[in-house]
Amino acid sequence: MPILTRPEAMERITTPALAEKFIAEQIEDIRAQVGENKVLLALSGGVDSSVVAALLIRAIGKQLVCVHVNHGLLRKGEPEQVIRVFKDEMDANLIYVDAVDRFLDKLAGVSDPETKRKIIGGEFIEVFADEARKLQDVKFLAQGTIWPDILESEHGIKAHHNAGGLPEDLKFELVEPVRILFKDEVRVVGKALGLPDNMVYRQPFPGPGLGVRCLGAITRDRLEAVRESDAILREEFANAGLAGKVWQYFTIVPDFKSVGIKDGRRCDEWPVILRAVNTRDAMTATVEPVPFDLLQRITDRITREVKGVNRVLYDLTPKPTGTIEWE
Ligand code: XMP
Repeated sequence: MPILTRPEAMERITTPALAEKFIAEQIEDIRAQVGENKVLLALSGGVDSSVVAALLIRAIGKQLVCVHVNHGLLRKGEPEQVIRVFKDEMDANLIYVDAVDRFLDKLAGVSDPETKRKIIGGEFIEVFADEARKLQDVKFLAQGTIWPDILESEHGIKAHHNAGGLPEDLKFELVEPVRILFKDEVRVVGKALGLPDNMVYRQPFPGPGLGVRCLGAITRDRLEAVRESDAILREEFANAGLAGKVWQYFTIVPDFKSVGIKDGRRCDEWPVILRAVNTRDAMTATVEPVPFDLLQRITDRITREVKGVNRVLYDLTPKPTGTIEWE
């Protein structure tokens, strides 16, 4: 069993040299734990699973089998980046599962937010379990569990979200090489492992992905409007130097339309809502005072480039009273 304690005296990993030391130690531990066996990893492309993947590739190469499930609710360019970084550049053993139709068909017509979340979570486990069953002799499951996950599950705040969930017939021993790290340390380690900055320093992204930002019952056209408008917002924030400064920023598309004018004609189309917030712990949040000219540029681009959208709104609500996501 892995040791679930963070040594009291453990130095905080803040420098590349400390990261290298940590990486070398973990490589030894991983090799000692797994021997010649295969290790399975659900690789979402998020910081934690990406760092675990990079670490395991260094330690055991092709003994690691990464499964990337594209559920259709990822941001623009994310599945492509996972393939490019891990398969093309790191030569990983990567299974790419296109489960877009499977997820979107299950979600069709479902508007209740909790039900949507349950479907997304449940379907993810099913798809992953299907892939796991196809593989032979996998004894270990790697996970991007980090120290706050362990603290929160100890204090009953949340179930240890990574462990568990898989059906009874799939029993693995866990490999959790970043379990004693805080998020900022995981990023330093990721950087030392050569992962790109936009993977290592990316903003928080909810597990159910764009599914919580395409309000009501998800349709493919509105989902595309969320994805495209989010990509424009991210690009414009990056150009304006806000990318590493604002804690979280994204777009939402509600399930109602309003009248507008395009090319001299009336049109019934959706609004896009912009949200940009700063916070320490996500329990409360303040709204980023985005410069007005930047908001205007983003509005101009979204209404011109995103199909089916005729208005852009900026959410001025701090948390509380608004949560960060809309759902
Ligand atoms: P709310 O909307 O509750 O969000 O103010 C607080 C933070 O949590 C993120 N969030 C999630 N993260 N899985 C996650 O990993 C989820 O299901 C989930 N739901 C919300 C949200 O993006 C924000 O940063």
